[in-house]
Amino acid sequence: MTIGIALLGTGGIATRGFAPAVRAVAGAELVAVLSRDRARGEAFARQFDIPEVYDDLDALLRSPRVQAVIVATPDAIHEPQVIAAAAAGVHVLCEKPMTTTYAGCLRMAEAVRASGITFAMGYTLRFSAALQRVAELLQAGRLGQVRYARLLWAVKGAYGPEAWRAHRPQAHYWALSAVGTHLLDLLRWYFGEPASVGGAMVRPAYGGPNDELSTLVFDYPGRLVAELTASVLFAGGNRLELYGDAGTLVGENLFGMQAAPPTLTCNGEPVAYPPNNPFVDEVADFVQAIEARRPPRATLDDGVRNVQILEAAQQGPLSRPLPPYP
Ligand SMILES: NC(=O)c1ccc[n+]([C@@H]2O[C@H](COP(=O)([O-])OP(=O)(O)OC[C@H]3O[C@@H](n4cnc5c(N)ncnc54)[C@H](OP(=O)(O)O)[C@@H]3O)[C@@H](O)[C@H]2O)c1
Repeated sequence: MTIGIALLGTGGIATRGFAPAVRAVAGAELVAVLSRDRARGEAFARQFDIPEVYDDLDALLRSPRVQAVIVATPDAIHEPQVIAAAAAGVHVLCEKPMTTTYAGCLRMAEAVRASGITFAMGYTLRFSAALQRVAELLQAGRLGQVRYARLLWAVKGAYGPEAWRAHRPQAHYWALSAVGTHLLDLLRWYFGEPASVGGAMVRPAYGGPNDELSTLVFDYPGRLVAELTASVLFAGGNRLELYGDAGTLVGENLFGMQAAPPTLTCNGEPVAYPPNNPFVDEVADFVQAIEARRPPRATLDDGVRNVQILEAAQQGPLSRPLPPYP
């Protein structure tokens, strides 16, 4: 059985990640693409040998070839596109974050549950062979109880102030949408649900509505404190540090498509893992989840909870002002 997949959006991740990945997965076929601009859609279709091009989502969803969509558009647009796909009975792999608001996620979740479609979240780090190896080491107790986890991912350039992530209504987060939401998902995967969130979300350079540099600190009472930092103001930060009462694990350049070589050490010793393309494994998991009617690795609940936590951080008082020094 082959699942016919349509790509919604012709941007960065559709081009670099998903179009090549769908073509590499046995049992998946790239059958359609949606673009606001027909000429751009046709150019994309020629590049990736896609038979159908649409500039109207409802028309795409009526195509008998389309059984699933990958939603690779700006965050705010995920909500109407996912709800339309669910209403049409079309399976969805939705890019992260699920959408811009928790209320929007709940509306999407209601539509997905009512439809019975398979819904997967695009938390690609869950498909990284290196980060899976880290999960295995944690599971095997190689670090003992982790007491402190620290994740840093900084990007610059591709996520500039002119792009949609910096602006409302397409995005409600900039650094946290670009990369921080992935780190939050990684913490939930490794350590489960935090009890509280603190930290800082700041906009020191451009002063727009969305965060440019965020540090979120999560309390796991009786176990550990974990922090993540996401930024669009500088490049070169791509680091994972886990400190347990029996060992230390350090990784560099493990997040995203890095030019720099990745490294991973546990207690100072290099850790081996088979290199993989996480996007290929993510699409393969989505296709297998549809066929086997089983949950995908990153679920609807992972999408909803992630945005709920981001929103709690954005709306709550993350830090207390200090009294002036006398
Ligand atoms: N999993 C990952 O590692 C990963 C990495 C990067 C991005 N993402 C996620 O994937 C989604 C797309 O990100 P991206 O980096 O590919 O963005 P992008 O390069 O800006 O592409 C987004 C595409 O969406 C379409 N679109 C539809 N309505 C739009 C609008 N109002 N404004 C702008 N574009 C619109 C555009 O295609 P047309 O012009 O052809 O309509 C555009 O090319 C986001 O949710 C993002 O968070 C995930």
